[in-house]
Amino acid sequence: MINVVFVASEAAPFAKTGGLADVAGSLPKAMQGKDVSVKVFMPLHAKISPIYKEQMSYVGFTSVHLGWRSQYVGVLTMKYEGVDYYFIDNEFYFKRHTLYGEGDDPERYIYFSKAVLAALKMMGEKPDIIHTNDWHTAPINILLDYYKRHDDFYKDIKTVFTIHNLRYQGVCDPYVLGDLMNLPFEYFDEERLKFYESINILKGGIVFSDHVTTVSESYAHEITTPYFGENLEGVINKYKDKLSGIVNGIDYDVYAPATDPNIPVNYDLRSIGRKKEIKAHLQVKFGLPVDENIPMLAIISRLADMKGLDLIAHILEELLSLDVQLVVLGTGEQRYEDMFKYFHYRYPNKLASRIYFDQQESHAIYAGSDLFIMPSLFEPCGLSQLIALRYGTIPVVRQIGGLRDTVMPYNKYTGEGNGFGFMNYNAHELLFTIKDALSYYHDHDTWKQIVKQAMKANHGWEKSSKAYLDVYAKVLGK
Ligand code: GLC
Repeated sequence: MINVVFVASEAAPFAKTGGLADVAGSLPKAMQGKDVSVKVFMPLHAKISPIYKEQMSYVGFTSVHLGWRSQYVGVLTMKYEGVDYYFIDNEFYFKRHTLYGEGDDPERYIYFSKAVLAALKMMGEKPDIIHTNDWHTAPINILLDYYKRHDDFYKDIKTVFTIHNLRYQGVCDPYVLGDLMNLPFEYFDEERLKFYESINILKGGIVFSDHVTTVSESYAHEITTPYFGENLEGVINKYKDKLSGIVNGIDYDVYAPATDPNIPVNYDLRSIGRKKEIKAHLQVKFGLPVDENIPMLAIISRLADMKGLDLIAHILEELLSLDVQLVVLGTGEQRYEDMFKYFHYRYPNKLASRIYFDQQESHAIYAGSDLFIMPSLFEPCGLSQLIALRYGTIPVVRQIGGLRDTVMPYNKYTGEGNGFGFMNYNAHELLFTIKDALSYYHDHDTWKQIVKQAMKANHGWEKSSKAYLDVYAKVLGK
C-alpha cells in the first residue's frame, strides 16, 4: 500500500477558481484503491460552504515559524466521496474573499506548505509520497529538501510535483528565504531558487522533486521550448529526464449526458437527436430565435487572454454575421466582459452573454450547443473540451498542449475525428476553421458521425490515474 498526501490550493467542490480544483477533486478519488491511499490537504478557505464546514471534525493543532513569528495551524477533516480531505485552518491567512491575488500570496502559501508538513508530523502520518501541485504548494518540495537532512521524520518522503500552469511561478523577493521559509541563503543560487534577482518557487518545485509531471504530453514537450517555457525552459530541459506528461481526465459520474440532473433532457449515443431539445430550451431561456437548424456555438471560459479571447475579439463581428448563435458563459478581464455585453446589445438575436459562472447552466450549455470554441494561446491540458466531447458538442480548438492531445481533427477522407483544429495563433485561421466545421454541420449524416465519435472518446480518469500510480511506483523504486 502506497500512502500519498496530495496537496493543492483548491479542490472542488470545496473551493474552485479553475481546472486545478477539478483535478484535485477527482484524481484522488480515481486513484484511491487497494494499492494506494490518498489524503488531500488544502487551505480552509473562507468561501468553503457551511454545508461542508459543518461536516468537518477537528483533528488537532500545532504551529509553524515564519521567520521569528509563530503561526497557528488548525487541522480539520472530512470524508468526501471516499477520500479524506484535511483543511489547514488559519484565519489570518485564509479568511479572505479570494484564493489568490492578495499582496501576501507568497507568505500565505509558504505558510500553508509549512503547515501541511507540520500537520503530518503532529498527526504522526508519514506518507511515502507528497504530491504537490503548482507553485502554491511547491514550497513543500523546497522545504523537504532541507528538512530531510535535519529531521528524521521527513527523511524518507518522496515527492511528485505537477505543473498545471507554468505561467504562475511565485516569483518573490529573496528576503522570503530567511524571513518566511527559514532556509539558509545557500538556496539563493542559480542551481536552486535564484531566478534573475528574485527567487522562483515553481523553479524550486522542479529542482527539488523526485518527479515532475504536467497535464498533457504535448505540454510536457512544449515547455522545453522558449515559446511555451515562460523563461524556465532552461531548468526544464535540465530536468527533462524526470518530467512526464499525463493528460487530465474528468469525472464521468458528474459529466454524464445520460444521467446528469443539471440538463433538461438526458441522452446517450442512441438518442443524440435530443440535444436539439436542449438547444431549444437554451434558445428560449436566452431570448434567441428558436430554430433547431441554426448552429449554436458556445464559449465557457475564464475570459482571459490565455484562452485566446483576443482572437475572438478580432473576428466577433464577422462571426456574428454568419447564420449562427453564440452563447458565452464566464467572467474575467473587464475588456472581454464589456465586449460580450456590447455585442449582445447589438446582436441580441445572435449572441447571449452570461457574464457570471453557474455550474448547472454550464452543463446545459455544454449539452445543448453544437460547437465549442477554445482557441487557447497555451493550454496545459484544458478540461472544457473534454466535457464538450462527452456531451457530443464538437470542439474547435487550437492544436497545442492538451487540446492537441485530446481533440482529433475531423478527416474528411477517412471519416475519423471528433473536432476541428488550427495551428497558428491567428484570428482568421480560427474563423476559417469554424466555417469549415459549419460546412459539415448541415450534412446531417456526417455531423451525426462526428458527434458520435466525440461522445465515444474516453477521457475519464481510468487510464491517467493508473499513469500516476506508475509514477509513484517508479519514484519509490517499486
Ligand atoms: C490549469 C491549466 C489547464 C488545466 C488545469 C488542470 O487550469 O490552465 O489547462 O486543464 O490547470 O490541470
